Amino acid sequence: DKKAVLAEPINVVVTGAAGQIAYSLLYQLAAGSVFGPEQPINLRLLDIKPMMDVLQGVVMELEDLALPLLRDVLPTADAGVAFKDAAAAFLVGAMPRKQGMERKDLLAANVKIFKDQGEALEKFARKDIKVLVVGNPANTNALICSHYAPSIPKENFTAMTRLDQNRAQAALASRLGVQLCSEMELTPLVDKVKNVIIWGNHSSTQYPDAAHAVADLPGKGSVKVSSAVNDNAWLNGEFLETIQKRGAAVIAARKMSSAMSAAKAAGDHMRDWWFGTKPGQWVSMGVVSDGSYGIPKDVVFSFPVNIKDKKFEIVQGLEISDFARSKLDITAKELEEERAEAHQIITSELSNCN
Ligand code: NAD
Ligand code: LMR
Repeated sequence: DKKAVLAEPINVVVTGAAGQIAYSLLYQLAAGSVFGPEQPINLRLLDIKPMMDVLQGVVMELEDLALPLLRDVLPTADAGVAFKDAAAAFLVGAMPRKQGMERKDLLAANVKIFKDQGEALEKFARKDIKVLVVGNPANTNALICSHYAPSIPKENFTAMTRLDQNRAQAALASRLGVQLCSEMELTPLVDKVKNVIIWGNHSSTQYPDAAHAVADLPGKGSVKVSSAVNDNAWLNGEFLETIQKRGAAVIAARKMSSAMSAAKAAGDHMRDWWFGTKPGQWVSMGVVSDGSYGIPKDVVFSFPVNIKDKKFEIVQGLEISDFARSKLDITAKELEEERAEAHQIITSELSNCN
């Protein structure tokens, strides 16, 4: 009996479960492409009360997938019920930005959600829960959430910059493809571009850094992307700005923020956290800073990390050019400002309640 060898189901929470990102993410989870084909899951779907009817429709579709790894599905508007004994959580539920807004404009609307959910995680979740914050402003929301769940290690809270990493990887592969088109067989596939780094905030101050990236070219082995591209003006100019502004470009075109690509990135992030990264290949995640690379502590900053046994380690010892240093400082400063603003919002809300 095949079922007998399967693990016990784990509880996986998706917040904002009636929204756009969840709609793409839930299929990946139910199909086993995140926690693996041998891990049954119970889904805990959290959204706000007015969305319960819509959420019921999502539950019907999940049933209709007829996927054997998907066990119990529980829609709820109660965070305490959703987070009970949860082993992993995708915190997606939040207001998305509209055209003309910066992500930090969402602070006032969204910070309180992450305070409340931090408190619910503290009370109800497993202490080894892995929390991935997707809802914006993702880095600062993750910091707030961790702050209100002090008994869960702060390493268990991460923010998503994987979408930025995927965007950067795709842009580099495409550039190399155009550049090498006279030698078609040398064109790298997107997954052959490795170790591009997203530093800092998931915002327009992020620093997409190709200085350490390599590409596996058929017949040539591993080459440095910066040498293959051989155009620093492009890497430090057009490439950087395109990735920084990609979210806004999608909103301008779609009139809604990216969802399919965001859900795919969330799956990538959690899968790597769960199963580990490949040797010599790092990924970018927003994690609580330990002061590495001179970044202030106690902000959630995106660093390159290696992951083993479900624990990440920030990649150390990378050379930081003067250009990179100035970019790291800008995005760190923005995160410190967001942190101050978030604390102010929470403090004034608390005093209004009293
Ligand atoms: P959406 O509006 O389609 O869905 C959001 C859902 O969250 C809605 O169903 C809403 O009712 C729900 N929600 C609101 N408050 C909630 C609460 N307190 N508890 C539970 N659910 C709640 O939005 P979306 O397109 O799915 O985007 C969700 C978030 O993800 C936004 O903040 C967006 O900016 C962000 N995002 C982040 C990245 C990233 O790379 N980090 C990428 C894309 C989008
Ligand atoms: C994105 O990067 O696409 C999301 O964070 C949505 C946004 O506001 O840009």
